[in-house]
Amino acid sequence: MSEARDPGATVAGNGGDVLVAVRDLSFSYGRGETGRTVLDRVSMEVRRGEIVLLTGPSGSGKTTLLTIIGGMRRFSAGSVVVLGTELSGAGRPAVDALRRRLGFVFQRPSLLRSLTLAENVAVALLPNGGLASAESDGGVQRALADVGLGGRADDLPGTLSGGQQQRVAVARAMVRAPPLVLADEPTAALDGANGRGVVSLMVQLARSSGAGVLLSTHDERIFDLADRRLHIVDGRLDDG
Ligand SMILES: Nc1ncnc2c1ncn2[C@@H]1O[C@H](COP(=O)(O)OP(=O)(O)O)[C@@H](O)[C@H]1O
Ligand SMILES: [Mg+2]
Repeated sequence: MSEARDPGATVAGNGGDVLVAVRDLSFSYGRGETGRTVLDRVSMEVRRGEIVLLTGPSGSGKTTLLTIIGGMRRFSAGSVVVLGTELSGAGRPAVDALRRRLGFVFQRPSLLRSLTLAENVAVALLPNGGLASAESDGGVQRALADVGLGGRADDLPGTLSGGQQQRVAVARAMVRAPPLVLADEPTAALDGANGRGVVSLMVQLARSSGAGVLLSTHDERIFDLADRRLHIVDGRLDDG
């Protein structure tokens, strides 16, 4: 896994069983004397079908690592291969193509308040050719049913509880059956029971589709739902 790769290149048939391979990734916000190292030679992997938690104190670098893996932030040192795409030095088209293949769930569901739940989920299908096809409509209905909101497709987000809104965000992340889901503290705005409900749903959907999940959290009550936990402190990772 250590040979140099061309930026943006697709390697080894979409990466085989390794969905995420991070090698010696370092990252600083700012440069030179004002620069602050936030990730320090981080190496980690997520394999197909694995549910991996990323834990660590606030400010330890979890969001920074997830945004780099999600192609939302550039880095200068190390190698990050996601679904077979080397992100080091990758061009915009390769990064955009990768991002369309990932599912994202954030701390807040950020639903569009004037759109129905079905329309909010369908937003994730826009890069695939829009909202209007019967096929995408079936997928949206299925995704909402999968998160227990099958009867609420035409309702507006404002009529849902926080936990239900986060379930819609899970449906939006899963509707295109992504091979990898990245979730950044998805339970942080929810109480314990609702948070666990949302994550166990996400894990169940990922297990049934064979997707991998990398999920950052503070919440000890969900540790048992994962296969593995990576702990990060001051930008350094304990893998194991
Ligand atoms: N845009 C930014 N500019 C400068 N520093 C940042 C920025 N985002 C985060 N940081 C700093 O980087 C460190 C890691 O932040 P973050 O990745 O958000 O940690 P976590 O998600 O584990 O709380 C923190 O010290 C934070 O203050
Ligand atoms: Mg964070």
